Amino acid sequence: MIDIRRMGALLAERPEAHCLPQGLYNDPAAFDFDMAAIFGTSWLMAGFECELPKAGSYVAQMVGKWPVLIVRGRDGEIRAFHNSCRHRGSMLCAAGSGSSPKIVCPYHRWTYELDGSLLSAMRMGDDFDKAAHSLRPIQIEAVAGCLFICFDDNPPPFNEFALRLEEYLAPHNVKDAKLAFESTITEYANWKLVMENGRECYHCSTGHPELSRTFPVGMKKHFDVDGDLRVQAFIDQMAAVGLATDALEGDWWQLARFSLNPEVLSLSMDGGFLVKKLMCDRNGGDIGSMRLAVDPHCFMHSTADHTFMFSAMPVGPNETAVTGKWLVHKDAVEGVDYTIETLTDLWTRTNLQDKELAENNQLGVNSPGYRPGPYSKEAEMLALRFTDWYCNTAAKYVETHGR
Ligand code: FES
Ligand code: FE
Repeated sequence: MIDIRRMGALLAERPEAHCLPQGLYNDPAAFDFDMAAIFGTSWLMAGFECELPKAGSYVAQMVGKWPVLIVRGRDGEIRAFHNSCRHRGSMLCAAGSGSSPKIVCPYHRWTYELDGSLLSAMRMGDDFDKAAHSLRPIQIEAVAGCLFICFDDNPPPFNEFALRLEEYLAPHNVKDAKLAFESTITEYANWKLVMENGRECYHCSTGHPELSRTFPVGMKKHFDVDGDLRVQAFIDQMAAVGLATDALEGDWWQLARFSLNPEVLSLSMDGGFLVKKLMCDRNGGDIGSMRLAVDPHCFMHSTADHTFMFSAMPVGPNETAVTGKWLVHKDAVEGVDYTIETLTDLWTRTNLQDKELAENNQLGVNSPGYRPGPYSKEAEMLALRFTDWYCNTAAKYVETHGR
């Protein structure tokens, strides 16, 4: 049972432009509330079309405690379902990916078509209505090779985001990519601390010495560096090859293409490409990084040679699963065009550095001496944007469900 009034009181306590009251970072009730108010109502980045290459391909994943199953049907359509059998609710597919001609429940073998319809159920009698026991669908949209799901039957507006993401990401050919590597680490910190950390680079120069070599970590809001002639030259170059650079944002998303540091072509340890076969070869691959951010849980960087996606999913009040996915061109050959070790080195280090920062943050936030502090208006505007978005979205839920 979610204590809506208590959550409403905690939200109201937050001083403007400050981080959140303690209870929102460590109270078990806040976890249940966040699942319902935030993860239950938002568009979530659920992976990539290329993870489901053929009919019967599936990806099963957890959103908090909610199991989700994404399947490509025989008609080529990608659908999302609650990963819960319509008999007695068993989870149908364990987390992970694979391929199967039908969806078969491991418990009593109820068997579903790839479109979610129930095909057979043994010993249920002649009057059993199979049509009334299809898998329950979840809204899903595919844009520029990315998949987004929403548990809410009335999801937030999507069209403007879809148009803009298509424009910014289509040149990276994510549809023609393959998942080269995926990893999940556990961070013992509230998901919002993990995300605030991921939305600011105030900590980058000391916390991420390797990442700091690749892009201007002193930038302001949207990787904008006022009056920098090199940045202006970058914008002109990108326009000449038809790539958009403007920083755009909607309520729950942001897009921008920004310039990397001099001589840097990719988010890599040495600044060079990590993959020989490029996903986007415009301007010789010197195209900076296209950054997508999706509230509540995701950011993505697409350079010419690869795409890195970061997703933080709440597991418990002080536990978050951070998944990284690395995409490369589908024809890039491991061991020839790239190695997993070099491809993943920078973000693996960065994620482990962030894990330590977020866990340390959580320990301090648990102190009876903790009081929400102010964000830097110069260096933490995107972290502030995130917590403002969180508070607004949460407050809307309190308003509609608190009476
Ligand atoms: Fe799935 Fe019984 S719970 S067949
Ligand atoms: Fe970081």
